[in-house]
Amino acid sequence: MGLHVHDMECSSEITEPAIAALVARFYAKARLDPLIGPIFNDAVEDWDAHLRTLNAFWSSVMLTSGRYKGNPMAAHLKLPIEPRFFERWLALWRETAAESFTPDLALQFKAKAERIAESLKLALFYRPGAMTAARPPA
Ligand code: HEM
Repeated sequence: MGLHVHDMECSSEITEPAIAALVARFYAKARLDPLIGPIFNDAVEDWDAHLRTLNAFWSSVMLTSGRYKGNPMAAHLKLPIEPRFFERWLALWRETAAESFTPDLALQFKAKAERIAESLKLALFYRPGAMTAARPPA
């Protein structure tokens, strides 16, 4: 019986329903998180729409379905995100991936998220020219 329940909750295959379960679990936790929860609760008005977008995003990333048409960089530029928030986001993601998929697949979700988080951080926090901003114009 324990094994059956485990099978139901922990997928050994990356499918659309398994991705949707991971996404739903992740955002349920993220909303309750004291550090990053307020950002989601302030920014997201329609949670069904947000979850649909994120299902499409992860389907595109993990199944190369092409379902996601959007611009994650632009979506985060307007948010009050600090660099350290990404550590929390990734910790919650890793935890939820491990609950939702077998270890090998959880590792794939974790690796993808880490790479995307790095690009988002570069886009949000790397300011070309910041080191030379004090230089007088040529
Ligand atoms: C500190 C970390 C993060 C915070 C606080 C955060 C917060 C948010 C919020 C509030 C939105 C909704 C924006 C809106 O509806 O106007 C959003 C959208 C989104 N986020 Fe994040 N995010 C974080 C990191 C990430 C990471 C690491 C990924 C991917 C691995 C990601 C993927 C997305 C995607 C795909 C969208 C939808 C963009 C669209 O509308 O097309 N986010 N995020």
